[in-house]
Amino acid sequence: MKTYKKATGALFAVLLAAGTVSAYKSTSAFQLGPPGAAMQLVQSKETLEARVAANEVPAPLAPAAKDGLLASKAYKNVPVMGHITSGEFTRLMTAMTIWVAPQQGCGYCHAPARDASGNVVLNEEGYPEADLNNLQSDELYTKRVARRMLQMTQHVNASWGQHVKQTGVTCWTCHRGNNVPTEIWFDEPASATDTQMVGYKGHQNAPAENIGLASLPSDALRYFLASEENIRVQSADIFGAANETTVKRTEWTYSLMTHMSLALGVNCTYCHNSRSWSDWSQSPQQRATAWYGIRMVRNLNAEFLEPLLDTLPPNRHGRLGDAPKANCATCHQGAYKPLLGVSMLGDYPELAAPAGVKQMADGKTEANPKVSP
Ligand code: HEC
Ligand code: HEC
Ligand code: HEC
Ligand code: HEC
Repeated sequence: MKTYKKATGALFAVLLAAGTVSAYKSTSAFQLGPPGAAMQLVQSKETLEARVAANEVPAPLAPAAKDGLLASKAYKNVPVMGHITSGEFTRLMTAMTIWVAPQQGCGYCHAPARDASGNVVLNEEGYPEADLNNLQSDELYTKRVARRMLQMTQHVNASWGQHVKQTGVTCWTCHRGNNVPTEIWFDEPASATDTQMVGYKGHQNAPAENIGLASLPSDALRYFLASEENIRVQSADIFGAANETTVKRTEWTYSLMTHMSLALGVNCTYCHNSRSWSDWSQSPQQRATAWYGIRMVRNLNAEFLEPLLDTLPPNRHGRLGDAPKANCATCHQGAYKPLLGVSMLGDYPELAAPAGVKQMADGKTEANPKVSP
């Protein structure tokens, strides 16, 4: 009986050890704040590996000749990129095709070739072939959008250095080989009961992806990333007399904070010492970078993306008829820095800053030449 018990005990110990080993997930921990403040980010090996795989950067194209005719002399309709050489221009077109329309090719943005009877000529993959004698045409909306996208990319790199630093962005940062970036957002329709007095849900309790399926209001991004609402919860004095915030704004703030954490693949302590959410002096410097990020996203939505509404066809509009908009995930896609901090601008300097745009003292630039889409 004793030996039996011993054997069972030993077997149990072996099983327990085996179970522990197989359930064990290798993790990495990063300390983010002062020791003892529990400001840590713990991530499993699987999460980290998946993140590295999702953030690959395509190999840069061979550099183009810097001498030769300027694009503005070689081509007919290049108001935005006329200042680079025609060799650099062709290289940029090839890169844009890889970044945004790798399946469709040049014909995604350029007017199609037609045969004698007026039918669109398709290539081997079944996509329209671009008419090489009509590349100046602005017939397709995709070309008009892409022109504004070129300006937006240059604007981010030239005017939002407080956020994107020297790393900057290219079309790949958001598009990653997709016609439409995978991370965009639209206004959410209110629930059917919201027009009634009883049962007002205020965009709550209907789990939305971009706020982590939390039971928080799903319309926070509209107020904080596509308007200028103040992002505040806490009061500066103990009686709260100076606190202008409302329950609604508090809930929106937590929605936004959840979105930002998810978008970057981090937890709250990446930007806050949770003993005092509001205190900037106790926050890691990433919070200041994020502050500029919020202003940058507002600026991109207001100046570039929302005005594209009428250029985009109705099948690109949201359920409420609004334009697709950017949030933190549009660039970050789950990484603390988009593409894990790899900069593509060294290989595509023409996207860094447009010629003739002056960097001004307040960090802003004089506006790009406005080209209406
Ligand atoms: C994602 C959209 C997009 C794709 C894909 C694209 N282009 Fe373009 N292309 C543009 C835009 C936008 C302009 C105008 C740039 C400007 O305003 O300075 C342009 C202009 C041009 C011009 C200048 C024509 C003229 O006379 O005005 C040429 C040449 C050209 N593209 C060639 C190509 C080739 C070749 C490909 C395929 C390898 C290609 N493009 C793929 C968007 C695109
Ligand atoms: C900050 C993120 C961001 C960057 C950078 C960016 N785009 Fe976009 N792009 C968007 C968003 C958002 C849309 C709107 C999505 C839609 O059309 O539904 C879009 C739409 C487009 C479309 C229309 C696609 C379609 O099928 O409707 C084209 C073409 C395009 N972008 C080209 C480019 C090019 C070329 C560059 C680089 C010069 C670029 N984009 C850089 C975010 C970005
Ligand atoms: C990427 C950085 C970042 C992450 C991650 C983040 N925050 Fe924030 N948080 C900020 C910034 C920036 C502000 C100030 C926004 C402003 O003033 O425009 C802020 C403001 C706040 C406020 C309002 C403070 C006040 O003064 O009233 C609270 C509360 C808050 N965050 C909680 C959280 C919580 C909870 C999480 C995790 C779910 C979180 N934050 C994750 C950057 C971050
Ligand atoms: C247009 C693309 C783009 C968008 C949109 C964007 N970011 Fe960033 N962000 C970047 C780039 C590029 C960097 C890397 C800068 C660097 O190399 O330090 C960055 C860096 C950061 C960092 C610093 C990370 C670190 O560890 O140093 C934080 C925090 C951050 N972003 C937060 C945000 C938040 C919050 C939002 C949404 C409100 C946002 N970002 C939207 C492009 C973007």
